[in-house]
Amino acid sequence: MNITVIGTGYVGLVSGVCYSELGHNVQCVDKLPEKVVMLQNGEVPIYEPGLQELMIKNMEAGRLSFTNEISDAMVDADLVIIAVGTPPLPNGEADMQYIEAAAKEIAQSMNGYKVVCVKSTVPVGTNEHVRGIIANHFKGQFDIASLPEFLREGTAVKDTLHPDRIVIGAESEQASALLTELHRPLTKEIVVTDIRSAEMIKYASNAFLATKISFINEIANICEKVGADVTEVAKGMGLDRRIGSSFLKAGIGYGGSCFPKDTKALIQIAGNVEYDFKLLKAVVEVNRHQRYGVLDKLFHAIDNVYGKTIGIWGLSFKPETDDVREAPAIEVIDRLIELGAKVKVYDPIAMESFRRILDHPSIEWCENALEVARGSNALCLLTEWNEFVEADLSEVEAALLQPVLVDGRNVFSIEQIKKTGLNYYPVGRPV
Ligand code: NAD
Ligand code: UGA
Repeated sequence: MNITVIGTGYVGLVSGVCYSELGHNVQCVDKLPEKVVMLQNGEVPIYEPGLQELMIKNMEAGRLSFTNEISDAMVDADLVIIAVGTPPLPNGEADMQYIEAAAKEIAQSMNGYKVVCVKSTVPVGTNEHVRGIIANHFKGQFDIASLPEFLREGTAVKDTLHPDRIVIGAESEQASALLTELHRPLTKEIVVTDIRSAEMIKYASNAFLATKISFINEIANICEKVGADVTEVAKGMGLDRRIGSSFLKAGIGYGGSCFPKDTKALIQIAGNVEYDFKLLKAVVEVNRHQRYGVLDKLFHAIDNVYGKTIGIWGLSFKPETDDVREAPAIEVIDRLIELGAKVKVYDPIAMESFRRILDHPSIEWCENALEVARGSNALCLLTEWNEFVEADLSEVEAALLQPVLVDGRNVFSIEQIKKTGLNYYPVGRPV
């Protein structure tokens, strides 16, 4: 199959590479020339484990290439996949400008029957809108389809090659047959449905996962008051197959490019049809509040942060990624600076990407985890990178000015902590 992927971000690049790994000819298009040059040179602009090796392998096999020119890339395409961003507008709605621009460019390069599908996360009705844009310019036959993406950053290659399910929203037999054939080697669980339901499945899935996280975070907050341990509670709950154990890790609240934006977008989608999605609004509110729970513990531990030095372990919104979009670290560090603290930070991968969005004279950029602890009045763990999980806590204690460790991700056991003199502040667990 000849496949053209528009947009080489986390989704477009990983999908393009993985489709080429399945033996298809894939051309990836991005509008940013510098990104395309990097990719053509075998360099991956994002940090995603396993991606670069697979990309180079398939480029060398002649199945994968990168270009700025959509018209060249589309000449022989059977399938065109839109994977551009849908960032939030100030009111929470998804910004459709990149989708619309991509649809117009596709329309101008249509030269025969193709299936055009949207992999970006888009409001219900968007695929039909894309069809309208293409039909305005191109009078021949084509099909549109919704192909929502469920990969997670940090495990994107594995998630793409071994998905739990594939969802295809198609309006014609021809389109659903083509997309089913493409994904058949990946999983038996292929849900073929109508386009609007496929679009909704994506938002509903992210909203549900976000709900699980906010739920367990509220349970954690109650655990703190009644002396229960949220990790035990989550374990006991998760063994019930109806509940499931995943996404029940309490912590500092969800971040990332998708849960925050997709929950707000779904609230807007509901609002547009005059439905007040109260549950999801509460999920968003609980998540916002959870960040401050970790800060409150810090304030409790060291009283006043003014003039003090606070160490921060972890800047990315989760481990194994350099993505800092909506990372809890942004709000936490912002607030600490606002209150007059100095902040020492370290992240194994995300230092550069974080610095691009938040730089300030009060931030000291450290070379390693121990350097952060040295001379700090307290240490806050915000991202559970292995490097922090495996740190020698007695060394950390010796380096700190005051033995305060606020663990926003519950990575240390109480036994480990008891071997040290650290004052430990986890989430929802008695110490
Ligand atoms: P991203 O911002 O990382 O990448 C988007 C890319 O598209 C950029 O490189 C941009 O230059 C390019 N682009 C924009 N307009 C273009 C055009 N007209 N022609 C060519 N290139 C163009 O975005 P992402 O994180 O990959 O997300 C893409 C979509 O997938 C979003 O809707 C997102 O919600 C959804 N999604 C993301 C993830 C994730 O983990 N990041 C997972 C599932 C779904
Ligand atoms: C999430 C979904 O898991 C993917 O299925 C989806 O495709 C993607 O959003 C998307 O639409 O972009 P991602 O944001 O990459 O993937 O990462 P997750 O592993 O879901 O983590 C999201 C956030 O929730 C992180 O900040 C993480 O630390 C937090 N989280 C996750 C918790 O606080 N507790 C948990 O139990 C799980």
